[in-house]
Amino acid sequence: MASTPTTTTGSRELFSGDFWENPYPAYTDLREDEPVRRVTGPDGPFWLISRYDDVREAFVDPRLSKDWRHTLPADQRAGQSAAPTPMMILMDPPDHTRLRKLVGRSFTLRRMNALQPRVEQIAADLLADLPEEGTVDLMERYAFLLPVLVICELLGVPAEDRDQFAAWSNVMVDESSAEESMAAMGKLSGYLSELIGRKRAEPDDALLSSLAAVSDEDGDRLSQEELVAMAVLLLVAGHETTVNLIGNGVLALLTHPEQLARLRADPSLVPTAIEELLRFDTPVVQAPMRFTAEDVTFSGTTIPAGEMVMLGLGTANRDPRWVERPDELDVGREPASGVFFGHGVHFCLGAQLARIEGRVAIGRLIADRPDLALAVPPSELVRRRSTFVRGLASMPVHAGPRA
Ligand code: HEM
Repeated sequence: MASTPTTTTGSRELFSGDFWENPYPAYTDLREDEPVRRVTGPDGPFWLISRYDDVREAFVDPRLSKDWRHTLPADQRAGQSAAPTPMMILMDPPDHTRLRKLVGRSFTLRRMNALQPRVEQIAADLLADLPEEGTVDLMERYAFLLPVLVICELLGVPAEDRDQFAAWSNVMVDESSAEESMAAMGKLSGYLSELIGRKRAEPDDALLSSLAAVSDEDGDRLSQEELVAMAVLLLVAGHETTVNLIGNGVLALLTHPEQLARLRADPSLVPTAIEELLRFDTPVVQAPMRFTAEDVTFSGTTIPAGEMVMLGLGTANRDPRWVERPDELDVGREPASGVFFGHGVHFCLGAQLARIEGRVAIGRLIADRPDLALAVPPSELVRRRSTFVRGLASMPVHAGPRA
């Protein structure tokens, strides 16, 4: 009798079926079978690099450029601008270096650390508003709000404008259509442009006033357009990412009750727990796109020039070549150099602020609500279908009585 043909690769599909709920078995196949693979995501095809060592190398390889014009035939590049808006995350050195240096003068570690008391207050206010009885969506009432309110604080958005600012930002972050997101982005840019005008006239000690005034030793400054683009970048890069650190982190703890109990019993573990949660269910699952300026080879596979490439942070952070027991959540794990904040010149500008937000948001929540529990089985939770971030659309919980 003829035998039934079987597939030889055993690779599970990416970006379809159960992948969204649990991508990790497919990531294991990817790293083992085809560590550099051309895949099709919700927004189209790209090359995905999935092993930890390759990802780290790719982050510092100048042949992987942020300039999308590498995808065009050489004779069509002239007349096209390298980036659609002057945002440093879309630029290569030296243009990137110039903007990063200017913003680095204002967005310092000191400024981020000084925000901690405000982050604590914002978390305390949001927690006080969570009902003790019934079901509440923790994403809507906590995870979405805390990061945007912190960015308002950082930039210096006046209290009376914060609800409107948060509403625009949420449209950009949630499942709204591309048209709605673009419209919200337009309104936000208009608002920020006008706010910068007000800050120039009446400076305060928040970041926008500082960025408007900043200049380097040669007298170089940010133009108005660059300032608005920087403010929008800080909002986009700092909101959606941190929302999913909080959401994924709380979910991981609720589904690993022994780790949650360990953390509640020893709150001094919160800082290592946040590093572990960033590694275990990485919020920025693919680092934003890069384009091959020439042919590049990783793990024996050559990606031709002119292709779009993403660096798989979610898969790299579970690579057993780098980390022991990668699929185990261990809140006391010795922190190591995961790639959740990127690497190289584009390393996350807000990493310290994100860490503070994660520690405060998760640490305070689990201390404040000792009976916190999911209101639905984990299998019923809906994940967002995004190429860039891994996160929950909603998380119904019983918050329970306050401690
Ligand atoms: C858990 C939260 C966060 C995660 C996981 C995260 C992750 C990342 C990653 C992976 C990159 C590198 C992108 C690339 O190489 O293409 C990045 C860049 C960046 N992040 Fe974050 N981020 C977080 C929070 C924040 C916050 C709170 C801010 C600021 C308010 C921020 C601002 C930025 C900026 C401005 C860049 C671009 C840096 C550059 O191009 O030089 N991020 N982030």
